[in-house]
Amino acid sequence: MSATEILSALDRIHGTVSVIGSMNVDYTVTAQRLPGPGETITGGPLRLLPGGKSGNQAAAAARIGATVRMFGAVGTDGNADLLLGALADAGVDTAHVRRADGPSGTTVITVDANGENTIVYSPGSNAQVTVEYVESVRDALVGSTVLGLCLESPMETVTAAARMCHEAGVKVLLNDSPFVPSLPAELVQAADILLVNEHEMAQLLGIDEPEDDDWDGFDWRHVLDEMRAFGFEQAIVTLGGDGSVVLDATADEPVHRIAPVRVDAVDTTGCGDSFMGTVLAGLASEMTLPEAAELASYVSAYAATGYGAQASYGSAEQIREAFAERLA
Ligand SMILES: Nc1ncnc2c1ncn2[C@@H]1O[C@H](COP(=O)(O)OP(=O)(O)O)[C@@H](O)[C@H]1O
Ligand SMILES: [Mg+2]
Repeated sequence: MSATEILSALDRIHGTVSVIGSMNVDYTVTAQRLPGPGETITGGPLRLLPGGKSGNQAAAAARIGATVRMFGAVGTDGNADLLLGALADAGVDTAHVRRADGPSGTTVITVDANGENTIVYSPGSNAQVTVEYVESVRDALVGSTVLGLCLESPMETVTAAARMCHEAGVKVLLNDSPFVPSLPAELVQAADILLVNEHEMAQLLGIDEPEDDDWDGFDWRHVLDEMRAFGFEQAIVTLGGDGSVVLDATADEPVHRIAPVRVDAVDTTGCGDSFMGTVLAGLASEMTLPEAAELASYVSAYAATGYGAQASYGSAEQIREAFAERLA
């Protein structure tokens, strides 16, 4: 498919997406090196950016034009306003987000001069996204075409939301990230499509990654077989700068390789989430899995050209503009 054909899919986004899960404010400071135990070092200016995988995925889907409802919890601190404000700016409906007493979710990130980092995640209000909350928002949650889930929320909550939506005929897309090796059988059964990156895929299925990242010579049929044995007929594996692969046991062509979109990447933080958000938007808009993934390849490549996660996401117009010279 040409860039023109792929990007024309942006004009077809109209569906509704529910995302339930995490929102975090990321506190990032860069220092020459990471401090050792008991040590104090001086770093550069502190940056506060809205993040959290689910919040990012919701923002990405809304920015390209999907109607997105966010479900989750923020705290009673100032970070709550930052998180809700950023999502509202992206066009996400946050009316169903719960306010829980105490701090919002945060991550405290230290980055050294080589880009190596340490991260401490403090779930805060994300831990208050309970099964009871899922029950309380049932009507709104199942009112969308597609549900997006990741694993920054309690597993029983994720499972309850997946079951509820699956039973209501809502398509469920699960991102096994942060990586959990053993997923509850009920969750696997309720989720329609799995999205993982190459490292998550390898660990989940016990498959070695290829030497020299030779993903084109990789035995994707074997991955598909293992995916099916694990419980998924449909999956997407993202490969960073090498693109992605759609696996679909129900399709005539079960392995669909999506080429990477070459860009001058400056920061790939949140690229996986923008990919996921785009697939959610695409599936809600009646695109096939390969069509949605082809579009996601452009949308997430765009995100790699800007700093931060949500801060780097583009609108349909910005993305079209950025790749205008590639259009025939
Ligand atoms: N350097 C890059 N250049 C172009 N696209 C990229 C780059 N890095 C990531 N992407 C896009 O983002 C998607 C997700 O990135 P990936 O690194 O696989 O996810 P994660 O962030 O979960 O590790 C990739 O499949 C690709 O489409
Ligand atoms: Mg990666």
